[in-house]
Amino acid sequence: MSVKIAPSILAADFAAFGAEIEAVEAQGADWVHVDVMDGHFVPNLTFGPDMCRALRPHIKTVMDVHLMIAPVDPYIAAFAEAGADILTAHVEAGPHIHRTLQAIRAAGCRPGVALNPGTPAEAVRPVLDLVDLVCVMTVNPGFGGQSFIESAIPKVAQLRDWGCPDLHIEIDGGVSASNARRLVDAGADVLVAGSSVFRGGSVADPAPYGENIRAIRTAATSVSV
Ligand code: DX5
Ligand code: ZN
Repeated sequence: MSVKIAPSILAADFAAFGAEIEAVEAQGADWVHVDVMDGHFVPNLTFGPDMCRALRPHIKTVMDVHLMIAPVDPYIAAFAEAGADILTAHVEAGPHIHRTLQAIRAAGCRPGVALNPGTPAEAVRPVLDLVDLVCVMTVNPGFGGQSFIESAIPKVAQLRDWGCPDLHIEIDGGVSASNARRLVDAGADVLVAGSSVFRGGSVADPAPYGENIRAIRTAATSVSV
């Protein structure tokens, strides 16, 4: 599978999301990663379905919505109606992840399941047949700009081994050009990157976004020697 770079708008200018999305897509983003936080499942707050609906017309690629909320089920319809393409719920968010993933598919979105750094890959194995994507967190969710947690990498190879060939394996947290290659070698095909994409650029000066995306893509796909 081709490697996809998914900038997280958590690292963008919150007062200019529409323009930031258009800038980062013009600079080569493959997907747009949208982090929803509730101040309960994670110790931070971002925004909800109304913001996602407002962002939708600005996203020409794939709207990849990462729900860091608990409970999930009462909000699935609202995020589906807001236009999420991929809707990812955490396996730790409640006792009924199987039901949640079924409900996401029934609402018309592509289901994803995310796992925290302290959660083993085995936790999502029974639901791999229900999802299009597994998101392996390589930071504890809640904030951008944290250090990459190396110990999560072996889970990627396990999931690639267990999953169907077209399962997306997404890495979220601390991704940069310095670790992209190891992640892809382990079996990842979607790299979420917040601070390492938005660093140094702005809507007024978006060229650094493109340089940052190309640096990650080049590192991820370079031939090893
Ligand atoms: C963390 C979020 C990530 C975050 C990644 O809770 O889920 O998507 O934005 O940011 P960086 O790439 O800066 O670690
Ligand atoms: Zn995320």
